[in-house]
Amino acid sequence: MMENLHELLINRRSIRRYTNAPVDADDVRLILEAGLMAPTSKNARSWQFVVVEEPEMLALLGQCKPNYATSVANAPLAIVVTADMTKSEAWIEDASVAASFMMLQAADLGLGSCWVEVRDRYREDGEPSEEYVRNLLGIPEEMAVVCILSVGYKDETRRPIDTTKLLWEKVHAGKW
Ligand SMILES: Cc1cc2nc3c(=O)[nH]c(=O)nc-3n(C[C@H](O)[C@H](O)[C@H](O)COP(=O)(O)O)c2cc1C
Repeated sequence: MMENLHELLINRRSIRRYTNAPVDADDVRLILEAGLMAPTSKNARSWQFVVVEEPEMLALLGQCKPNYATSVANAPLAIVVTADMTKSEAWIEDASVAASFMMLQAADLGLGSCWVEVRDRYREDGEPSEEYVRNLLGIPEEMAVVCILSVGYKDETRRPIDTTKLLWEKVHAGKW
């Protein structure tokens, strides 16, 4: 692929439906490399990632909250993004930047992806989504589960971002 970054940003949209095709192991590796190359506060690299490709586990992860998690169950690949809350006070930022880098690398490989928020989300019975995911995957206590990235070949078409509709009123020149 390798369009220029601006084109890639225009064409990246959240993709929640995927074909059954597995993601090539080399591509999975490139996506993870992108996460591992992401900048972190004080270079703490507080994140750790769990790669899930097993269909049964993907289906279970897709039940981590009642709504907006179905893309995980639809996907051939999920990357669970966790962060060590004892390693950095900027663990949310560290994890978020790594997740963003992985989504952009996925986009560059022609893959669709979607961020599924886990932190501070709850299941229908009130159980924190984080606890549910932690138990399923054996993630240690000190690791927060920030999000799950669902990744796969696109099975839906989304319009590119319309750059004439960007919210420039949110940008302040010089001072607020
Ligand atoms: C912090 C964050 C949390 C998100 N959580 C979810 C989620 O739980 N489920 C989901 O389907 N999409 C989720 N998204 C995707 C957004 O809904 C999506 O980025 C937004 O609607 C803009 O659409 P676009 O990505 O196609 O441009 C999340 C995105 C971010 C940045």
